[in-house]
Amino acid sequence: MTEYVIYGNRPLKGEVSISGAKNAAVAIIPAALLVNGKSRIDNIPEISDVSLMLDILRRVGADVRLINRSCVEIDCSNIYTTKAPYDLARMIRASYYMLGAMLGRFRSAQVALPGGCDLGVRPIDQHIKGFKALGANVDVQSGFVTAEAPDGLCGTSVYLDIVSVGATINIMLAAVLAEGMTVIENAAKEPHIVDVANFLNSMGANIIGAGTDVIKIRGVKKMTGGCYTIIPDQIEAGTYMAAAAAATGEVLIKNIIPKHLECITAKLTEMGVEITEYDDSLLVRSRLPFTKTNIKTLPYPGFPTDMQPQAAVLLCLAEGTSMITEGVWENRYRYVDELKRMGAQIQVDGKVAVIEGVKKLLGAPVRACDLRAGAALVVAGLAADGVTEVEDVSHIERGYENIVEKLSRLGAQITRMQMPDGKALAKAR
Ligand code: UD1
Repeated sequence: MTEYVIYGNRPLKGEVSISGAKNAAVAIIPAALLVNGKSRIDNIPEISDVSLMLDILRRVGADVRLINRSCVEIDCSNIYTTKAPYDLARMIRASYYMLGAMLGRFRSAQVALPGGCDLGVRPIDQHIKGFKALGANVDVQSGFVTAEAPDGLCGTSVYLDIVSVGATINIMLAAVLAEGMTVIENAAKEPHIVDVANFLNSMGANIIGAGTDVIKIRGVKKMTGGCYTIIPDQIEAGTYMAAAAAATGEVLIKNIIPKHLECITAKLTEMGVEITEYDDSLLVRSRLPFTKTNIKTLPYPGFPTDMQPQAAVLLCLAEGTSMITEGVWENRYRYVDELKRMGAQIQVDGKVAVIEGVKKLLGAPVRACDLRAGAALVVAGLAADGVTEVEDVSHIERGYENIVEKLSRLGAQITRMQMPDGKALAKAR
């Protein structure tokens, strides 16, 4: 077991550079399967979810070469199976993109039901609805989703009953090589949807409207290789904004697209955090306590659900009572019990959390139960008095590149510790 040990209550100062977007990378990597040739993808974050996606591609026959730490070349000329390896695919949510990409290029795909963070029920009915509308037969059996379209896919209109990032991207992947025009209505508008569409277009696809709620995909006969650079990670940037605010001080967050962060900037400003916007960076300055604020998470351009736990930590340090309403996931408050160990006063009732601000959080041993929950506990640990030990950090390292190094460079006292098995067992008991 690996944990982070954080000596908190030290102001953060300096500059941090944001890595490539995780949720774009884990979609663009399988999207490379649509190209019968080489794609070079730059600004890939060095995180375990990306390594896992690259391993899944290798296991179906892709030739994956790391050009440097953030650039990869993927050659999909010799794919020999359309069945994604079960053991790897079930470990990561984004493995469902193998369905759209394989179905699009080979008219056949078999992928394990996806894994990923436990945020409550995570159905994929809208993905399946889209594949079926395009003419595929889809079957879910023994933990596998099988999609087949022996006669090819045919452009169609798909209305999503719920705004879904995954379904929007998966239907785009399946449709780019289909016959005729596909229209996705009520599509998700997240920055990584636009990034995936831009990647596909740069490889020869014909997609318009990504970033709006109607996306039109005119099927093309073939896609060819090229080079593409992934956008900066909106949620990593937001997490460093929260860390800078919670730990006070002054931090320049570099290599970002400020437009993608407006929903986060607006709420942090409402809390009293001072944010100055530049072309591709933001300066965050803060002083405690924050102002109580209500937040509702919504699909983009609403406040992102993936920033909800980190925002909750800031609201713990606000004067008065704040309220969060989770508008995307069914069960995204599992971190609350851990924050309570640090002195937070939070009551959860269904999708609503009522947060009573406290003067100080106090360090404690806590457990990361998922990726963003883990990030929130790190943010809490940076602000807290005393020592916080965050366990199960593998969740955090799925999505944050070099978080310990980046925070250390800002002056945080944070160490990554490999626990001997004996100590880990004793703790578990
Ligand atoms: C993606 C992100 C995740 C983020 C989420 C919402 C990746 C790898 N993950 O997840 O970090 O929290 O967007 O911004 O990009 N739904 C259905 N049926 C479906 C699909 C979704 O009912 O077929 C529901 C979900 O249960 C959820 C809502 O739609 O309540 C949004 O889910 P979706 O946008 O699909 O999330 P993911 O793409 O899985």
